[in-house]
Amino acid sequence: MKLRFAAVLVPLGLPPPAEAKDSCWECHAVLEGPLQRPAALYKADVHARHGFGCAACHGGDPSSDDPHLSMSPRRGFRGKISRAAIAKLCAHCHSDASLMHKYNPRQRVDQYAQYLTSVHGQRIAQGDTAAATCIDCHSVHDIRNVKDARAPVHPLRLPDTCARCHADPGYMAKYGIPTDQFDKYRRSVHWQALAERGDLSAPSCASCHGNHGATPPGVSSVAAVCGTCHVLLEELFNKSPHQPVFASMGMAGCIVCHGNHEVLKPSPAMLAGPKSVCAQCHDPDSSGAIAGAEMARLINDLRASLDRARAMLERAASSGMEVSEAQIRQQEAEEAWIKARVAVHAFRIEAVREPVETGLKLAAETYRAGVAALEERNRRRIGLAVSLVTIAVTMAGLWMAIRAIERSQGSS
Ligand code: HEC
Ligand code: HEC
Ligand code: HEC
Ligand code: HEC
Ligand code: HEC
Ligand code: HEC
Ligand code: HEC
Ligand code: HEC
Ligand code: HEC
Repeated sequence: MKLRFAAVLVPLGLPPPAEAKDSCWECHAVLEGPLQRPAALYKADVHARHGFGCAACHGGDPSSDDPHLSMSPRRGFRGKISRAAIAKLCAHCHSDASLMHKYNPRQRVDQYAQYLTSVHGQRIAQGDTAAATCIDCHSVHDIRNVKDARAPVHPLRLPDTCARCHADPGYMAKYGIPTDQFDKYRRSVHWQALAERGDLSAPSCASCHGNHGATPPGVSSVAAVCGTCHVLLEELFNKSPHQPVFASMGMAGCIVCHGNHEVLKPSPAMLAGPKSVCAQCHDPDSSGAIAGAEMARLINDLRASLDRARAMLERAASSGMEVSEAQIRQQEAEEAWIKARVAVHAFRIEAVREPVETGLKLAAETYRAGVAALEERNRRRIGLAVSLVTIAVTMAGLWMAIRAIERSQGSS
């Protein structure tokens, strides 16, 4: 009876009742080396926590202590699971909506379908088992909830997980693709935001490449992925003179100027001078290059005025003057600077000039407020000095008067 129970339940993927025996786990826990390891790891596995035993993936009969029976192929046992068979094994449950939704009503069931569209899934289907399958990203026997910070697919750990293959030149040699994605990505503003500031909205490898599919849903090519987060910049770029020409040249939008893995902190140096990204296409005396130089000049001017005003306000504040209103205005001026740098993406000088002029006006105002506060401080200092002198003179007078009284009392 017990045997039939297991044999019927296992193919459905339903776990045995909680009190049911798991001879596989029991026996393997006391074996040694590689046969014991899965049993030791399995305690932390998300499947174990949901009541699944070893037989959920390996088949066999967990109710029997006799290894010949429990691990009998006639009872569905699969000892070795080939790499080519793994995705299908996981999909047996993970593509089954009625099963998965019993455990988690919101769980997606498209991982396998998506995976088949990815380069990884396609290579494995072609018989090249070097490409990634489910367990290369999720591990096996210690599969964790994907939000668990220890899971190998957690955004902070994912770059290492992909790098195990993609940063290994020997492993990737036969494909002739670069192996520098990890190193470059780790130098990017995105990794900085993610790792140093804990900003989980910054992209890790899968934010751009998709978790399972070739590209995230709604993005026809990886090159278009930047706009899913940088919406405003994409809108500006799409209306700019570059959009149609880049598209007809087959060039990939943002990546032409910012790169893909090594996105660095942008600066006006990208607009003009030896580090200009415009020089890739615009000759120095062309209108495009001249426009770039003018935008750089405008943005640099505003930056210099902002720095001067901020320094003045800081001096005033540290000498105890009340400048909080000017500091709020200064914040508005800083926002104009951000707007100007965003406006670069319209690739029209006027679009940059407008926020720059707003910012310059505000910076001039806050600078004047700082100067006025320092002048006021100086006036107060002179006033203070005068009253200190007055007090000192009065005290000296008092002291002499007391001495005079004492002397007159002493002589009497
Ligand atoms: C009484 C001990 C015992 C029980 C019960 C047992 N195993 Fe094993 N298992 C072993 C030993 C010993 C080996 C290594 C020798 C061999 O391959 O037959 C092994 C090998 C394996 C392997 C590696 C097979 C291979 O071909 O490399 C897997 C996987 C495995 N067991 C899973 C299971 C599962 C699943 C169950 C329960 C359905 C189970 N075992 C029950 C002792 C046991
Ligand atoms: C979620 C599915 C899943 C569960 C549950 C599971 N395994 Fe595995 N196991 C696999 C896969 C997939 C492989 C192949 C790993 C590989 O190719 O590196 C494997 C490999 C193994 C191997 C090595 C076989 C070989 O290739 O020589 C052993 C031993 C093993 N499992 C034992 C267990 C034991 C014992 C349990 C329960 C404590 C268990 N497994 C639970 C999926 C699972
Ligand atoms: C190339 C790496 C990679 C491969 C291969 C892979 N996954 Fe994932 N998987 C991920 C990442 C990354 C996430 C998302 C983690 C997060 O949300 O932070 C994920 C999430 C999941 C989730 C959670 C629900 C969801 O869809 O977000 C499940 C379940 C899952 N994967 C199962 C599978 C299965 C089954 C396979 C094989 C068919 C597989 N994965 C193959 C990287 C991978
Ligand atoms: C017997 C059915 C079954 C099999 C086979 C199976 N899983 Fe699962 N898996 C589940 C269930 C049920 C959950 C819990 C769902 C949940 O909590 O959202 C789960 C959870 C997960 C999670 C965590 C999902 C999350 O949202 O964090 C991952 C990752 C995962 N499985 C990967 C795999 C991989 C990889 C394989 C193949 C090696 C596999 N599973 C095989 C049933 C199965
Ligand atoms: C088990 C090793 C392995 C792991 C882990 C792995 N990959 Fe791959 N990946 C490969 C192999 C092999 C190819 C095939 C290369 C080819 O055909 O050009 C590939 C192909 C790719 C491609 C397509 C490259 C092309 O040809 O344009 C992308 C993109 C990619 N992987 C991204 C990732 C990301 C992102 C991760 C982590 C979430 C990851 N891979 C994890 C081995 C792996
Ligand atoms: C900000 C988005 C983004 C992030 C983050 C990102 N990639 Fe990419 N990746 C791209 C783009 C865009 C391409 C170029 C695709 C094209 O030309 O169609 C690319 C190309 C690739 C390729 C193909 C070979 C090549 O270098 O051109 C691989 C492999 C790859 N990335 C792996 C990774 C890995 C591994 C990580 C994490 C360490 C990662 N990527 C992080 C956007 C990203
Ligand atoms: C998953 C969302 C996401 C994707 C996709 C994405 N980014 Fe980002 N990006 C961010 C976040 C978050 C920051 C950090 C914002 C901050 O520093 O305030 C950032 C920062 C930047 C910065 C630096 C801004 C600054 O002022 O320092 C640049 C440049 C940038 N991204 C360009 C790109 C490009 C180019 C792509 C496509 C190849 C891309 N991003 C893809 C979310 C994303
Ligand atoms: C033709 C070159 C070019 C293209 C194409 C381009 N950018 Fe930029 N981007 C720049 C330059 C130059 C700056 C630096 C402006 C500065 O700092 O003065 C910049 C700055 C940025 C910033 C920082 C602005 C801020 O608010 O801090 C982000 C983010 C950014 N770009 C994202 C993108 C995205 C997303 C795309 C595609 C939609 C894109 N860029 C396309 C040249 C380009
Ligand atoms: C990949 C090549 C490429 C890059 C890089 C590039 N441009 Fe252009 N740009 C073009 C092409 C092609 C045109 C359209 C040709 C035309 O109308 O003269 C154009 C047009 C323009 C125009 C409008 C027409 C004009 O000539 O006045 C401006 C302004 C401009 N670019 C500025 C820039 C600036 C600033 C940068 C650097 C931040 C830059 N471009 C980077 C190729 C590029």
